[in-house]
Amino acid sequence: MLVEREPETSHAIGEADVLAIDPALQQALDREYWQTPENGEALEMQTVDYRSTRDIPLGDVIALYKANGWSAVEKPEALHKALVNSETLISAWDGEALVGLGNAISDGHLVVYYPHLIVLPVYHGRGVGREIMRRLRQRYESFHQHMLVAEATAVPFYERMGFVRAGQTVPMWIYAGDDH
Ligand SMILES: CC(C)(COP(=O)(O)OP(=O)(O)OC[C@H]1O[C@@H](n2cnc3c(N)ncnc32)[C@H](O)[C@@H]1OP(=O)(O)O)[C@@H](O)C(=O)NCCC(=O)NCCS
Repeated sequence: MLVEREPETSHAIGEADVLAIDPALQQALDREYWQTPENGEALEMQTVDYRSTRDIPLGDVIALYKANGWSAVEKPEALHKALVNSETLISAWDGEALVGLGNAISDGHLVVYYPHLIVLPVYHGRGVGREIMRRLRQRYESFHQHMLVAEATAVPFYERMGFVRAGQTVPMWIYAGDDH
């Protein structure tokens, strides 16, 4: 949904020169995700089902991340590619509405890292995060080390999922965002 534009030579190249957002994607960004675009009424919460599909519309991903204020939303194309190229990707759906997702990358034998776990705010506290994490962990059950960097607000959630602080280790990163 992102189209590349030829940069003009008469001025410095900025972000707007490289990425022009498709109007349909912009519409998805502008609306509150749990409202239907047609009538603005809240979607009824039905049974949530879980899929390992890679066929997740970019607009849905952006709306999910935007609703949680995550900076990855500023790199929509990279975010989408990162998710669909993850070794494991579990998504949660209420009907055809994307309400959560989690991904895992691993060396295939010893170590697995869980980069993202995110649930649409109106679905928080309904067991969606737990079920996504259960399915991710199930795939890597025998692995020696399961790693993640937790938001401070999510620490109690991860503790309930069986994670503990990583001994005397300190998380370190080179990070392009400013949202932590
Ligand atoms: C963290 C997050 C993924 C949890 O998902 P969720 O679907 O709301 O969590 P669940 O409903 O599955 O909760 C499972 C258990 O954790 C508890 N829990 C969930 N979030 C909690 C929180 N912030 N503080 C304390 N307990 C929490 C629930 O009460 C529940 O407890 P129970 O075992 O007594 O039933 C979700 O809140 C979210 O998307 N947050 C924003 C993004 C984020 O911070 N992701 C983590 C990145 S490191």
